[in-house]
Amino acid sequence: MWSNVGTHLEGSQWVGLDDIDLTDLALFAEGFPHDSFTRLRHEAPVWWHEATSHTPDGTGFWVVSRHAEMQAIGSDADAFSSSRAPDASGGGTLIEDLPYGFAAGVLLNMMDDPRHHRIRRLVTPAVAPRALARLEAELRARTATILDAVAARGGCDFLVDVAVELPLQAIAMLMGIPHEDRHDLMAWTNATLTYDDRELGSRSVSSEQAAAAMAAYGTALIERKRAEGGDDIMATVARATVEDENGGLEPLSELELLMFFNLLIAAGSETTRNAIALGMAALIDHPGQWDLLRHDLSVWPGAVEEILRWSSPTLYNRRTATRDVEVAGQEIGAGDKVTLWWASANRDEEVFDDPFTFDVRRSPNPHLAFGYRSHFCLGANLARLEIRIMLEELQARFERLSLDAPIERFRTNKHAGVKHMFVTFH
Ligand code: HEM
Repeated sequence: MWSNVGTHLEGSQWVGLDDIDLTDLALFAEGFPHDSFTRLRHEAPVWWHEATSHTPDGTGFWVVSRHAEMQAIGSDADAFSSSRAPDASGGGTLIEDLPYGFAAGVLLNMMDDPRHHRIRRLVTPAVAPRALARLEAELRARTATILDAVAARGGCDFLVDVAVELPLQAIAMLMGIPHEDRHDLMAWTNATLTYDDRELGSRSVSSEQAAAAMAAYGTALIERKRAEGGDDIMATVARATVEDENGGLEPLSELELLMFFNLLIAAGSETTRNAIALGMAALIDHPGQWDLLRHDLSVWPGAVEEILRWSSPTLYNRRTATRDVEVAGQEIGAGDKVTLWWASANRDEEVFDDPFTFDVRRSPNPHLAFGYRSHFCLGANLARLEIRIMLEELQARFERLSLDAPIERFRTNKHAGVKHMFVTFH
């Protein structure tokens, strides 16, 4: 097994791959552990991670670190389920098993086709390029309001005051959520996604309370949308029917609707804000590239893609093998957990020249920040639009930005989670 190969000299000690513990959140304290993943890509691209004292469920899992294998696995949803192994009681796309029928198999991103596809296509028109083009002016106006509010102060917490706001306002708008409720939703989502006061696979009082508050809010919203209608995403899914197993039509279950609400709030706001913040941080570190954006409009589309590759806001997603299957010479057993580390694929030397160089002119740039194939990010075009508008409006107002202190991060191995980023405007 790969796990026993490849010892390296780090500092003055020989360290084996088995010393890498991706469930020890301390490993992610300073950001994504690129050193560990560079070793994995070279020495053990499909690596069995033994369970450690930090690992939820007490079971090991496969770690896939290279672009090629991630594409192969992402293309084979029959062998690699987002929901579960046949008849398993748990599954889903986190390292820890989530109960089947409550989260796994119910959340859109933790379902398999055909139901996944039937529900997904209900909402694709709302985030398609044509719909987003109609939204652009509104998003730009909101961005201007966000930036004008902080500009006079000469500086701000870029994450909290700027990067959080646009994605949050955009998803609230698309979902038909009143503007004034957005900060409650953000606080609850933060509490359910962060591990500042707990370990992987466990819950804390604050995460439980936040989940309950979120569920109560979502249930009331869904009832209101069902009664009142409208053309926002929540009204659409609350009133839609999808094909059932017998070819008839049925509404989504209450739990499916509630989970969809949770998913959109989290996916819509927690990821893009990190791309905006870490993208800005990269441009602060690379003033030449910031200047290039100012003088050469043709680099903008590529710059957004490079920011996505560089920041890789979603670090990994999991699949579960539904049958025995071989990948890159490794025998993956039915029921095994398989984790796909998008952030590692995005530094794969076999795909990207100088992967550790931030280059807004990079082309081609086949990054996997949005995943691959059947579960490819539903909000990809929205996220791209938000990143572009925010940077354009920043450039219109400021000569440059500088960082006042090191970036503070959330304790998590799931997101490139920025907590605070203090900047000065020039
Ligand atoms: C930079 C920002 C974003 C990043 C990096 C990101 C990343 C991802 C990734 C990696 C997946 C695939 C998950 C998997 O394969 O298991 C995904 C799926 C998804 N994303 Fe995003 N996302 C972003 C923004 C958004 C936004 C703004 C929305 C809101 C509309 C959104 C909604 C979703 C949904 C609903 C799925 C599930 C799709 C499915 O299962 O068919 N995401 N995202």
